[in-house]
Amino acid sequence: MSTFAKGLEGVVAAETRMSFIDGEKGILEYVGIPIDALARNSTFEETVFLLWNCRLPKKAELVDFSAQIRSRYALPGDFRKRILDMPKDAQPMHVLRTAVSSLSLYDPNPNATDVPTAREKALNILAQTPTIVAWFDRHRRGLPLVEPRSDLSFAANFLYMLNGKEPTPAMVRAFDICMILHADHGLNNSTFTARVIISTLSDMYSALTGAIGSLRGPLHGGANEEVMEMLNEIEAFAKQQGKDTSAVIEPYIMDKLARRHEGARIMGFGHRVYKTIDPRATFLKTFSKQIAADTGNLKLYEMSSKIEEIMAREVGAKGIYPNVDFYSATTYHSIGLKLDLFTPMFAMSRISGWAGHCIEQLADNRLFRPKANYIGPHEAPYVPMDQR
Ligand code: COA
Repeated sequence: MSTFAKGLEGVVAAETRMSFIDGEKGILEYVGIPIDALARNSTFEETVFLLWNCRLPKKAELVDFSAQIRSRYALPGDFRKRILDMPKDAQPMHVLRTAVSSLSLYDPNPNATDVPTAREKALNILAQTPTIVAWFDRHRRGLPLVEPRSDLSFAANFLYMLNGKEPTPAMVRAFDICMILHADHGLNNSTFTARVIISTLSDMYSALTGAIGSLRGPLHGGANEEVMEMLNEIEAFAKQQGKDTSAVIEPYIMDKLARRHEGARIMGFGHRVYKTIDPRATFLKTFSKQIAADTGNLKLYEMSSKIEEIMAREVGAKGIYPNVDFYSATTYHSIGLKLDLFTPMFAMSRISGWAGHCIEQLADNRLFRPKANYIGPHEAPYVPMDQR
């Protein structure tokens, strides 16, 4: 007898060596290394090497791997024109999904799924995604596109292409840490999507395109944008009432909580796996305070902190705590990123996890093909059109 698990909750559907999550204890490790240690000491490039090779690189290996990423920032063929032809009011996640899909059009061998070639494709897409996001943002702002610089790290190059000037080391570090924290997270919805697609022996472009589509949803990666919208809404509400922001947070949250059975959600809280604070949120909380203070955005941090306090009091016992999106919203805002770039930032990092899972899947593939319980009628008559 097959059992039905709505939302596949509790179902183990894959094996991975990349990330380990203990949702009860609030532990996240990449290849056994606690996320906190990586966020404090590693770089995004090193973290990607770790995920894809299941070990930390030696110095020369890291230099080589970083150089490989840096040499691939440029977009192929006439891709620049493709970006310039995009409607300026398009949403960046839709742009990213479309663009990653169309990268395959420039690949003479897009369908190859042998592991070494799949890794090459993953490396290209990982390196090219920041160029897509930064160029589209420049295009929509009517600014000239900035060529990538292969002397800059993944994080520094992205911020450079986005703003047209070299970022400060503090900005680069903040952004790099966000990239590390978002790189992989077990068999989440978008990762599962990528594995399901690659399991048909489709191709890396299709798998990553599908994953981007999954990540967009507000119940998944789209939540970081919604957190920021919530903070903006609270501020606007306070202004409208002629009150201080701190005075309206409590009624705002309590109203949403009272309507949670109608589906109202406090964005950035709750998680299918974590029943305690998400360890990424623990790190980002401290970090976002520091960057918010450095950049004059402390008010946002204080609002977030107050919301966390109310949520802990009201629903902490139910295991609803901040997730990674809650404090990443303040962090991204403090770095100066526009709201609709928050989810593309998540995607830029998570491509490493998605691709790593695709490689694991290809190395030991079994087609995903679950079943559905049919709950419709049987032996129904075919009623002729004029009798319906
Ligand atoms: N705000 C208010 N209540 C919440 C909540 C939130 N963010 N998240 C969960 N709950 C409540 C539900 O109302 C429900 O309460 P009930 O038992 O009284 O009915 C209970 O917690 C279980 O919620 P459910 O939606 O079934 O849990 P889930 O495992 O399906 O949800 C999420 C996981 C992430 C989809 C959910 O917590 C959510 O929608 N969070 C907001 C979006 C978000 O931040 N997503 C990013 C995830 S990294």
